[in-house]
Amino acid sequence: MRTIGFGIIGCGLMGREFASAAARWMHLQDMRARPRIVAVCDTDPTLMDWYSDHLPGVTQKTTDYRALLANDAVEAIYCAVPHVLHGAIYPDILASGKHLLGEKPFGMDRAQNAAIMAASGRPGQLVRCSSEMPFYPGAQRVIDFARSGALGAILEVECAFLHASDINPDKPINWKRMVDVNGAYGCMGDLGMHVAHVPLRLGWRPRSVHASLVKRVTTRPDGRGARVPCETWDNATITGTVGAGPEAFPLVLKTWRIAPGEANTWSLRVLGMEGSAEFTTKSPRQWRFMRYTPGGAQCWQTEDLGYQPLFPAITGGIFEFGFTDAIQQMWAAFVDELAGGDARGFPCATPQEAADHHAILTAALASGTEGRVVDVEYDR
Ligand SMILES: NC(=O)c1ccc[n+]([C@@H]2O[C@H](COP(=O)([O-])OP(=O)(O)OC[C@H]3O[C@@H](n4cnc5c(N)ncnc54)[C@H](O)[C@@H]3O)[C@@H](O)[C@H]2O)c1
Repeated sequence: MRTIGFGIIGCGLMGREFASAAARWMHLQDMRARPRIVAVCDTDPTLMDWYSDHLPGVTQKTTDYRALLANDAVEAIYCAVPHVLHGAIYPDILASGKHLLGEKPFGMDRAQNAAIMAASGRPGQLVRCSSEMPFYPGAQRVIDFARSGALGAILEVECAFLHASDINPDKPINWKRMVDVNGAYGCMGDLGMHVAHVPLRLGWRPRSVHASLVKRVTTRPDGRGARVPCETWDNATITGTVGAGPEAFPLVLKTWRIAPGEANTWSLRVLGMEGSAEFTTKSPRQWRFMRYTPGGAQCWQTEDLGYQPLFPAITGGIFEFGFTDAIQQMWAAFVDELAGGDARGFPCATPQEAADHHAILTAALASGTEGRVVDVEYDR
């Protein structure tokens, strides 16, 4: 099996998730290649101890990402840094010629994304954007169901990502609640790629959007005894119109940081005249679907899928699939493409899908702040 040398830039929450997924690569079966993390970079050197303890193969630890980009042992990079830095660091990574799996939103705003897009597209360089939730087996079933044409005329599509911890007004502020670091999109920049990925993959690009934006918690503790302004949008409900004429249908995208009681709920629901299907991470082993013929019964069926991932693994089929599995499956898709595969028909989100999601979010931000329906202007 081929080994691909990886570097991580940004060793926080998500950097550790990748390191964990790579460390248990033996979990996957019949892979073309495996990642080997050889270099890590973070401006906070205190994070390095964890990597030293758990990744003996790392030969470079640096606080300067340019030093990591100069390392010939690094073929591909995972970059997971705060949003404001994407627009500067991703183009530098791309200029180095190394492959990139970059974290969403792939640029803090549309201008940053345009800079990243301008730097991508080198022949032979694989560039993908992180989005792991569609790799749940139940989500894959809903996607396959839609791709098969089983929906008939579409009534509505909804994809949601719901968090609840921000309902606590005493939760300290962090960079994801700061407009100048997270971006003016607020919750949409944080969660938008998660909800846009599947609709865009299925060709459902809204031509216009209306967004309802909600701001409830306006100050937060700064961790040093004071309260500081918290200006990012808490919740966004985007209603787009896909298609035109009698076949047009609504696409609802929900990115909520204050959804009472929801820990990390990602859901996808597609409703059609002949078939409907849905998946939610609340029921991670199941998907639900309904097939309808005129005059027939309207019966939803629920199937327990257990562990039936896109990339085969050692786990028995009756067991449960979870978040860390979805992360590893996303990595499997990226590594498979790096090794010449087709990611079993479901590659990670592409740069064009990331750019399209920026077009949607930019229109949604204008819609929500100006109170009007806004046409989405795609690059192509
Ligand atoms: N796919 C997902 O489910 C998911 C979940 C959470 C976050 N994310 C994304 O991952 C990215 C990082 O989020 P996180 O939650 O890991 O944040 P984090 O704050 O835990 O980690 C970010 C790290 O980047 C480091 N950093 C800052 N400037 C740097 C620089 N110039 N060079 C190197 N390192 C630098 C910070 O010190 C920090 O350790 C964001 O783009 C975020 O949207 C994705």
